[in-house]
Amino acid sequence: MSPVNQHVADANDAAQKPSRRRFLQSAAAAAAVTAAPLAHAQQQAAATPAVAPPPAAAPTMPVKLTINGHPYELQVEARTTLLDALREYAGLTGTKKGCDRGQCGACTVIVSGRRINSCLTLAVMHDGESVTTVEGLAPDGDTLAPIQRAFIEKDAFQCGYCTPGQLCSATALIAEYRAGDASAATADVRFRPAQLSDDEIRERMSGNICRCGAYPNIVAAVKAVASGNA
Ligand code: FES
Ligand code: FES
Repeated sequence: MSPVNQHVADANDAAQKPSRRRFLQSAAAAAAVTAAPLAHAQQQAAATPAVAPPPAAAPTMPVKLTINGHPYELQVEARTTLLDALREYAGLTGTKKGCDRGQCGACTVIVSGRRINSCLTLAVMHDGESVTTVEGLAPDGDTLAPIQRAFIEKDAFQCGYCTPGQLCSATALIAEYRAGDASAATADVRFRPAQLSDDEIRERMSGNICRCGAYPNIVAAVKAVASGNA
């Protein structure tokens, strides 16, 4: 082959075989094309804050209650417990939330004459009813009810967290006993218990837990009021 022909052949070879430089240029161009949509998406994500939209407000409904002798008209969600209605809507924070599941009795209030755990019932279920909380135990013109004085005199509390529920429960207990209601500790349920014994009081107050363990003094206070000695 002549030198001229050899030169032409070498040039054709070079044109057909990709050089290292051309290969790298092609790869870089392909990477740029592939990365462009990803970079765009990342920029968009950075520009859009990841905040969930606010939940839609739940519908509310009116509930009329007479609380401690005063009329209240509350606008509550249907799922609002009586306990939350008293504390959060009526502003009566004397009633305490302990377990919020019916185990401690801290939320005890008196509804239409009966003591109940206000955390276990919905406010809308008591439309038109009368509720007595610890703020309403004292008779008009007095600052303390007899059971409240007895709790102080008998030293029947320590931290006091369970005390509003204990006071409401004790108030209803004494009324139940005077009405002749029997309990699981009553020897013969056909007859009204002759006296409110310690066992009767412990049984009837068993729904109210005191983590400070003031039970002996609580029993003494309830007994004093039930027997008219307070
Ligand atoms: S808060 Fe209701 S029973 Fe504990
Ligand atoms: S006085 Fe503290 S829980 Fe009863």
